[in-house]
Amino acid sequence: MFKKLKKQKKNQPNQSDFDLDLHNIPEHVAIIMDGNGRWAKQRKLPRIQGHYQGMQTVKKITMEASDIGIKYLTLYAFSTENWARPKNEVNYIMNLPVNFLKTFLPELIENNVKVETIGFMEHLPTSTLKAIEKAKEDTKNNTGLKLVFAINYGGRAEIVHSGKSLYDKLSEDGLTSDDVTEEMINDHLMTHNYPDPELLIRTSGEQRISNFLIWQASYSEFIFNEKLWPDFDKEELINCIKIYQSRQRRFGGL
Ligand code: FPP
Repeated sequence: MFKKLKKQKKNQPNQSDFDLDLHNIPEHVAIIMDGNGRWAKQRKLPRIQGHYQGMQTVKKITMEASDIGIKYLTLYAFSTENWARPKNEVNYIMNLPVNFLKTFLPELIENNVKVETIGFMEHLPTSTLKAIEKAKEDTKNNTGLKLVFAINYGGRAEIVHSGKSLYDKLSEDGLTSDDVTEEMINDHLMTHNYPDPELLIRTSGEQRISNFLIWQASYSEFIFNEKLWPDFDKEELINCIKIYQSRQRRFGGL
């Protein structure tokens, strides 16, 4: 059944024809936010300007996702491979959460958004870590959208980490490899509290997964959107969800 998206008090969609099936909104949407560098290059600006603009898009898409009724929004902010970028760019990206949370945390709280992370947090600069920890603490009782930042995250490293922690647990419980199940591996992933994403979006036209949620995206619908991340907006998000809703998910069956 198709209904018009209800008018909302805040962040209200301004297009009149956002026909979404409100009974088929993906619970978990994951996004590879790609194209910040190209956005800046097109404007002859330094790459970091693209990341700044990308941060503005994070704000808008978070509010939109919350309004649509998405429950989990996982954003790939920094991969375990991104350390190979020039130092000034790495430093800038590492400071983005500080900047973002300084200006946006009150709005997240007001909108009942809960901030969470996946990734190897222990390797982040102290100021980044502190800002994130504060945001997690201040939003821990919120019951709305879970905004999950993947920072210093890599799918392979996550699976290795899961394997090690599962090995320790098996030894502790006197179990052997014969006892290992898919569920146990899943339970040791950083995403163990979240359902698998039904929808994975990558912006900028690139078509690859880049080590993002490689276990969890086994049955995700992939949408490769042509917009560069700083240009991605609520209309594009709605379009992606409409495409998702038009797909038939078979999970290997018929
Ligand atoms: C990929 O684009 C983008 C990143 C590696 C950084 C993503 C970070 C943000 C969008 C901001 C995150 C905000 C917060 C609050 C954490 P690219 O640089 O690879 O672009 P290119 O492929 O065009 O060069």
